[in-house]
Amino acid sequence: MDKELIEAAISAMRSAYAPYSQFSVGAAVRADNGRIYAGCNVENAAYPLGNCAETSAIAAMVVGGASRITAVAVAGDGEALVTPCGGCRQRIREFAAPDVPIYVAGMEGHRATFTLQDLLPHAFGPENLS
Ligand code: THU
Repeated sequence: MDKELIEAAISAMRSAYAPYSQFSVGAAVRADNGRIYAGCNVENAAYPLGNCAETSAIAAMVVGGASRITAVAVAGDGEALVTPCGGCRQRIREFAAPDVPIYVAGMEGHRATFTLQDLLPHAFGPENLS
C-alpha cells in the first residue's frame, strides 16, 4: 500500500473548491517517474464545468511531464466509498495499466483497494486506436 500517496490525496481534499456540493474530494496519482501529483475537485457556478479531483491530479501529472500512472489514491468523506466516477475511470485508463491499484480513503485513512480492471473492465483505451 502506498501510504504517502494516500496522505497526499487526503491533504489535497482540504484544498477542494466545492461550494455547491459541499463534498470535498482529493486525489493523487503516482507516476512512473516516482513523483506524486495531487488534485482536488474544482466546482463552478455553471455546474457541468466542475472538475473532479482525479481530473485535476491527472492534469498536474501531464503538466509535470509524466504520462504513465503506477498508482491512484482518492479521498472523500461519508459512509460510502468514494471511488472514481465513471468519467474519471476512463481518464485514468488513458494513462494506467489494468493492474494499477486504486486506493480509496476517508479522512481517517485507507478504506479499500481496487484495481483499474475491477472498476473499468473491458475498457476502451489508446490501444484500440493504434
Ligand atoms: N467528485 C470527484 O471529485 N471525484 C469523484 O470521483 C467523485 C465526485 C466530485 C465532483 C463534485 O465536485 C463533487 O464530488 C460531488 O459530486
